[in-house]
Amino acid sequence: MVKMLIDVDTGVDDSIALLYALNHPEVEIVGITTGCGNVDAVQAAENTVRIIELSNTKKEIPVVVGANQPLNGTWEGPVAWIHGENGVGNVLLEKGNFSYRTDIKAEDFLYEMLQKYPQELTIVTLGRLTNIAMMVQKYPESTKLVKNLVMMGGTVNAPGNVSPVAEANIAGDPEACDQVFLTGMDITVVGLDVTLKTRLRKKHVEQMETYCSERCKPAVQYMKKALEYYMNGSRVQNYTPDNCPLHDPLAMVAAVVPSIVKIQKRKARVECSGTYCRGMIVTDLREKPIEAEYISFALEVDAERAINELMSVFWRE
Ligand code: BDR
Ligand code: CA
Repeated sequence: MVKMLIDVDTGVDDSIALLYALNHPEVEIVGITTGCGNVDAVQAAENTVRIIELSNTKKEIPVVVGANQPLNGTWEGPVAWIHGENGVGNVLLEKGNFSYRTDIKAEDFLYEMLQKYPQELTIVTLGRLTNIAMMVQKYPESTKLVKNLVMMGGTVNAPGNVSPVAEANIAGDPEACDQVFLTGMDITVVGLDVTLKTRLRKKHVEQMETYCSERCKPAVQYMKKALEYYMNGSRVQNYTPDNCPLHDPLAMVAAVVPSIVKIQKRKARVECSGTYCRGMIVTDLREKPIEAEYISFALEVDAERAINELMSVFWRE
């Protein structure tokens, strides 16, 4: 069983990652925090509770609104051309009985959960690292309570997606990621090196529709609609048509089935300044590297296995 704390900026790919985790028999989600990114932190929470409801899993998972600004600077606004105005491909999800929490700060909630389950929790981040960095700043001892952290973000060898060298989740808050990299936690980075190679195609969506269980039908119908919007955004971003890279879902799959990616450990920091390189992950292969901690980077992936793993949870009644 993988016990998880998840941090999201619920856009289309976050929502698919959440639906996978919610439906996975070996995953227990103890809490979800949100931050700005694809949408603002409140909209991300709103989307998250509606996705939980849509999953038909009857799970009551606390969803806590977190940081609406990066550590430095300001959030640039929603990424509507990829995720829609509402973050979920402009699909209107029903408002159910669940609500999100604003009575506690995300960093306090994360720490509370880690104290409750010391060394048991895998933190999966699908957005910026702001909430985690704020927890580490406020509770430095919290890092010892974390089992491991799997994050979607960054790139080592592949080109960036918001600049020549930076990926959105890191570029959105480079200082936060750098602080998290320095903690010494067991961190696995699932970045563009592997997510761009893991393509969901129209045929996969059709497969999900054909084989999904009755219970999962609403979730699969939602994914079909949201993915239409998202695939179009991916096409505009110069990817090939009729498919999209699986960013957040691959990170989530790798958190549950680590052997799906091959990792390489490197000492790494994040560039926090510069005209072209802000948000770039800098790994140092020299014998005497810069002051940094070892981070595990996913550099290869069994993409077919990852997609089959993702889809298979929707067959379950
Ligand atoms: C990452 O940025 C967001 O748009 C996606 O949800 C994903 O987490 C990809 O660069
Ligand atoms: Ca995301």
